[in-house]
Amino acid sequence: MKLTQDQQDLLDGKYGPGAQLAMKVQVAVGESFGAERMVPITRAHVALSNQDADQWLAEKMANLGAKCRISPTVNPGWCLPYFREKGMVQDEEDYKFMERTHNAYKKLGATLSYNCTPYIDTNVPNFGEIVAYSESSATPYVNSVWGARSNREGANSALFASITGYVPEYGLLFDENRKGTILVEVEAEMKTPYDYHLLGMCGKKIGHGIPVFVGLPKHVSSEDHRNLGAQLNTSGAYDMYHIVGVTPEAPDLETAFGGKEPQRKVVITEEDLKAVHKEISLEGNREIDFVMFGCPHFTLKECLHIHERLNGRKLSKEMYILVSSHVKNMAEIMGIDEEMDALGAHIIPATCPDQPIWKFLEGKIGLTESPKCAYYPQRRGINFVIRDLDTCIESAVTGEVE
Ligand code: F3S
Repeated sequence: MKLTQDQQDLLDGKYGPGAQLAMKVQVAVGESFGAERMVPITRAHVALSNQDADQWLAEKMANLGAKCRISPTVNPGWCLPYFREKGMVQDEEDYKFMERTHNAYKKLGATLSYNCTPYIDTNVPNFGEIVAYSESSATPYVNSVWGARSNREGANSALFASITGYVPEYGLLFDENRKGTILVEVEAEMKTPYDYHLLGMCGKKIGHGIPVFVGLPKHVSSEDHRNLGAQLNTSGAYDMYHIVGVTPEAPDLETAFGGKEPQRKVVITEEDLKAVHKEISLEGNREIDFVMFGCPHFTLKECLHIHERLNGRKLSKEMYILVSSHVKNMAEIMGIDEEMDALGAHIIPATCPDQPIWKFLEGKIGLTESPKCAYYPQRRGINFVIRDLDTCIESAVTGEVE
């Protein structure tokens, strides 16, 4: 691979052993993809997970003196001050663990946003920017919606890119690799962001490639895109999609496919969405123990929607709404945070469902609108029924789901 003087200096250790290690791994990754050079990035997002391997790597790089040239936003672990203040920390070891993760990323110079939807309000790229984003909903969103260019980075490769300021040039950084390959005709009616969760879960049927969706409504909201990308990437490792007439690189079918014929055509019907739902959700007609939203993190619009639907009604089951610190702050300023909290709907910043802080929910049955929320906590003994958002809100009031 051809390196510039700065890149060679990084590789030779001129900027210290941390940056050297990062560059060494990146060059190896680049060579394995046939990259001929490294190119500078302007933004990054690291899918911090606060799990053993994540903490090990962050501490290792920090101890080697690495500092991020491009300060990346980071995914949520769990919010130390929030849970401490609420008296919800059950295990001091968990607290210390999250504190160590926090300190390692702080030392590395990361932007401690603790939010998995940075592409909506904290780290928004422009069209054509070359970036390094990890996290399931983030990579498809920045590629598809903003037209920025990111390969499907892992938490580690995005961290290395943040440290060196470069990525190897391959894959989605090239025009020709960004064209659609599968035509997906959506016959199912798409009414709410929840339907986009289910559409995204159809990865098995859609198959490997870059899907080009037709038949979707003209207006696709930020929440719709967030859900579609999150579930596509979870169900089938997609790093990009197009929606004809909606996303910037798909003004029409011909452009979306780069003038070529689709390799495959797939039709998604109402029945497909129902089948996916049946496969991923626990059976209904039961009492639930709690309700959880915000995987990926909920927007202010969604918090306002819940506030409006509740209309002062007290919940019979606790509701946890996971959001960015920015959304939490807005909810506080607007006064809805306090009002909702009093009803039993808690807006929680900087937290993910796949964290040890939720161990008090072990063995319980939750209700959520997100397949991803239902998927990860299973390994912690927490299982979910999945329904659309408004059904979940009503069930939080009654305590039961149909
Ligand atoms: Fe975000 Fe954690 Fe869900 S990172 S998408 S809240 S699993």
